[in-house]
Amino acid sequence: MNIDVVVLAAGQGSRMKSDLPKVLHPIAGKPMLAHVLDCARSVDANDLHVVVGHGSDKVKAAFEGANDIQWALQIEQKGTGHAVKMALDNLAKSGITLILYGDVPLIQSNTLQALNNLVSPTQMSLLTVNMDDPSGYGRIVRDENGKVTSIVEHKDANAAQLSIKEVNTGIMAVPTESLHKWLPQLSSDNAQGEYYLTDVIAMAVESGLNVETLQPEFAEETYGVNNRAQQAELERWYQARLVNELMTQGVTVLDPSRLDIRASGAGVNVGRDVVIDANVILEGEVMLGDGVKIEANCIIKNSSIAAGSVVKAFSHIEDANVAQGCDIGPYARLRPGAILENGAKVGNFCEVKKSVIGEGSKVNHLTYIGDASIGKNVNIGAGTITCNYDGVNKFKTQIEDGVFIGSNSSLVAPVVVGENATVGAGSTITKDVAANKLAVARGKQVSLNWQRPSKK
Ligand code: UD1
Ligand code: CA
Repeated sequence: MNIDVVVLAAGQGSRMKSDLPKVLHPIAGKPMLAHVLDCARSVDANDLHVVVGHGSDKVKAAFEGANDIQWALQIEQKGTGHAVKMALDNLAKSGITLILYGDVPLIQSNTLQALNNLVSPTQMSLLTVNMDDPSGYGRIVRDENGKVTSIVEHKDANAAQLSIKEVNTGIMAVPTESLHKWLPQLSSDNAQGEYYLTDVIAMAVESGLNVETLQPEFAEETYGVNNRAQQAELERWYQARLVNELMTQGVTVLDPSRLDIRASGAGVNVGRDVVIDANVILEGEVMLGDGVKIEANCIIKNSSIAAGSVVKAFSHIEDANVAQGCDIGPYARLRPGAILENGAKVGNFCEVKKSVIGEGSKVNHLTYIGDASIGKNVNIGAGTITCNYDGVNKFKTQIEDGVFIGSNSSLVAPVVVGENATVGAGSTITKDVAANKLAVARGKQVSLNWQRPSKK
């Protein structure tokens, strides 16, 4: 069965008070519209149609690579029915059309699947929820047998209808053939002078179709975002779900309300007995192996940390690859291309960029390692700098197995320090150091006879 999905995303979102179109505002680091589209893809939608209006250029640009999207432009926002009509020419002649909202981001695939399953040439389906305070929403009107007969918008409802607690979420699945018939018949003769999509319900009943309703597993799936407070509320709800999922997989999370997961793509993969302390942010694709421990206040983005490694407090790790049994931080920064081999150690106030730190090697204090390859069992003394940049080009530093670099040394690249060589503290190394040698490149210490000046 062909499934067309129409996502309404033309509204302005003026209550967000933002230069960014509303549907591009993120939940868990991912634009709301992307959540909706990914969910639609998960139920095997054949075509995705997005109706854009306000900020349409920015919205389209944000999804430039996605060639499964057909854009429909609604220049003037004349109502939800008018919005769907903008995509009508692109819809298949048969099959199902599923209607979603770009600002209702957390709809789940099992809900959409259930809606689709209810559609046939003689039946459409509608997602409803019951609300204690239904004001503002369209009410679901039913006959004495409980069959849906129409939806009446709040502003058009009479007193009896206003007391109905079951409301329209806006999400529905309709036989596409019927939609082709009904949308051209919508009128704007109502309290708001808009073409209401909700009027197709009465049309369906009139044409002898049954309108089946369904309620979502979680009411939050149907919550719309109109302002920053609602965005934050959904963010919290979604985070709680993501964190719960990690705990289900065996992760100890010391404070579930203080772990944030901002993942697109594959998300977070965890081994057994991972421990995550408070105020940690995991972003993008993150892999944490068995027994990994992440202390408080760390940010880990698109990185993999293998079994038994410990990331101590306040460390920042991005696009890095950490092997087993490594020890990082506190206050360490691993930048893109940092590779730590088994048992390596990067201590406080060290920055590593595009470099390999070999097995068992230690970079313990106040050091910058950039564009370097460091062999096994190397000790890099405190305050060492690889001088990799001459202001125009970058050069490599090569430090072979067993090297000892004394504290406060500068290694001016390109330079090679051979196996088991030693560099004396405070040296500025500009030439290669041969294996097993001691290189010292600093002013010689002298002791002079000298009298301190005294005050006259
Ligand atoms: C709509 C429903 C109402 C339902 C409520 C749920 C109609 C007539 N009413 O009301 O029954 O209870 O949603 O939140 O459908 N949009 C466009 N173009 C337009 C108008 C709207 O793209 O011309 C988009 C908006 O950007 C938004 C969505 O459609 O994402 C819903 O529009 P909104 O104005 O919020 O609908 P409501 O009047 O609240
Ligand atoms: Ca609304």
